[in-house]
Amino acid sequence: MSKSIKVVRGMHDIVPQQSPTWQHLEGCVRQVVQGYGYDEIRMPIVEKTALFVRTIGEVTDIVTKEMYTFEDRNGDSLTLRPEGTASCVRAGIENGLLYNQIQRLWYSGPMFRHERPQKGRYRQFHQTGVEVYGLGGPDIDAELIMMTARLWKLLGLERLELQINTLGAPVARAAHREKLIEYLEQHRDVLDEESVLRLEKNPLRILDSKNLAMQAMIEGAPQLLDYLDEESSQHFDSLKALLDGAGIEYRVNPRLVRGLDYYQKTVFEWVTTDLGAQGTVCAGGRYDGLVEKLGGKATPAIGFAMGMERLVALIEDRGLAVPGLAPHAYLVLVGDSAVAQGLLLAEQLRNALPRLRLRTHCGGGSFKNQMKKADKSGAQRVLILGEDEIAQQQVTVKHLRDGPPQASLSVDALVEYLKEQLLSH
Ligand code: HAM
Repeated sequence: MSKSIKVVRGMHDIVPQQSPTWQHLEGCVRQVVQGYGYDEIRMPIVEKTALFVRTIGEVTDIVTKEMYTFEDRNGDSLTLRPEGTASCVRAGIENGLLYNQIQRLWYSGPMFRHERPQKGRYRQFHQTGVEVYGLGGPDIDAELIMMTARLWKLLGLERLELQINTLGAPVARAAHREKLIEYLEQHRDVLDEESVLRLEKNPLRILDSKNLAMQAMIEGAPQLLDYLDEESSQHFDSLKALLDGAGIEYRVNPRLVRGLDYYQKTVFEWVTTDLGAQGTVCAGGRYDGLVEKLGGKATPAIGFAMGMERLVALIEDRGLAVPGLAPHAYLVLVGDSAVAQGLLLAEQLRNALPRLRLRTHCGGGSFKNQMKKADKSGAQRVLILGEDEIAQQQVTVKHLRDGPPQASLSVDALVEYLKEQLLSH
């Protein structure tokens, strides 16, 4: 036997047992985003490397360490997308969607980051993202947060904490940055290796460090909130008032700075303590400067993305009910003549009942063996077509779980039976 080839480290299959949870989550997401009038956009998985370097930031972890970058056959440097915002802005500009327009968009799909794999952190993972262009006020910030809150409620995911912060306008950030670097320089002896590297390039991220030895120093660092420009400060106050009015609880976390460079003003994260270290299930913020930076006209923008694997894990861990996807019925075919007739019968039933999930037995075998397969399929009913049934133009219906004994029905009566018993809700 030849040696089997395994999946790439940090990547994973979503096996059939997990599909009902994924489909339920995706269905709820779709229902919510469409309920707010958002339009779907689909972007390629591969982009020019420069797109991510220019948007996410040259010195961020994603760009320096985590990108799947390769040379195309013509020599272009391409990268598997580590996130969706950059592609969405690129696509928006390129397709003329952003110029003097308001766009409310969403997308869903795989993203790639070469991180150290652990629970909730993968090298291929899935995000659903929402991005809004052309709206600069706090009302849309509130709408996005309300949208996510509605989704959690629909999914039955209680106990998620909303953390919000504001990073201010670029000018205010620059003033704070200068003071922060000055402060960090004075405490260089406490900084760990990674923080020393970040000192000049990305000092805000040092405030995000989980290193216990640095916490006291971080506590005393100049706070961005003290350097806020008037407009950002008012924007943040209005957002808080809108959230209060909507009854959405939040915690202002002055240390929330996010790992991507494009943010300004509002940033937010939904966090759980139930998933261990990788507890952020949804994160985003405002990125008013990015459209212009990528060659478009200056356009306010805000969005977020949720980690679908983390949400699936939460739904599973909390044992939340998910609609099943097992077949409603399994059609057993006994005898050679039943095969051709059975395939036609199945088509007839599907014509009459478009929502019916019917699995037809294929591959022959004894009645007993077919019944075993029917049971394993998780179906509620088994439909039996054998020589007797064919002679009498009937189909036998049996409960596979519990319920009344079997019945013999004409095809028309069977359609009514299935509609009433299995498809009425
Ligand atoms: P992000 O914080 O990098 O933001 O990722 C958003 C979410 O994706 C995270 O909160 C997490 O749930 C999930 N995620 C990230 N990395 C991984 C991973 N390696 N494995 C599993 N899940 C992961 C962004 O990507 C921004 N584009 C969000 C955004 C949209 N901001 C504005 N618009």
